Amino acid sequence: MRSYQWEELSESQRALVTVAKEQTERSYCPYSHFHVGAAALLSNGVIIRGANQENAAYPSGLCAERSALFAAGAQYPEQPVEKLAIACFTDGHFTKEPGAPCGACRQVMLETEHRYGGKMEVILFGENETLVFDSAADLLPLIFVSENLKG
Ligand code: THU
Repeated sequence: MRSYQWEELSESQRALVTVAKEQTERSYCPYSHFHVGAAALLSNGVIIRGANQENAAYPSGLCAERSALFAAGAQYPEQPVEKLAIACFTDGHFTKEPGAPCGACRQVMLETEHRYGGKMEVILFGENETLVFDSAADLLPLIFVSENLKG
């Protein structure tokens, strides 16, 4: 994992983070008021957008990361996800520190990476710094993937 200032990011990283930031406006979060946007870059260059979607029955809601990754899998099942960017907005501004994905999202990121047999870069935007993980596996030690089901 490495910490970057905005101008140190590559053009493609900045473009993806910009979409994730835009996506915070599409968050449906009447309960937490915590807007999370996600953007997944596929191998074919398509960007799939996600945003957290809450529900009055709280556990029925979904995080931004999973909404993007599941939409990517549903629309482009053959396309590896190369990069995933996330941004959080609350109290009228983007968070100063990068948002830390929840455990369930980390698990789904890992399966996405594993499913396509490569690495998925994870970019966590914050106003103070942006963290870039080369691989989703760097966010989750002691992974549980399909091989673990075989005993
Ligand atoms: N949330 C995300 O969308 N992604 C995360 O990684 C952490 C949390 C959402 C879920 C809920 O809608 C709101 O943020 C507050 O937890």
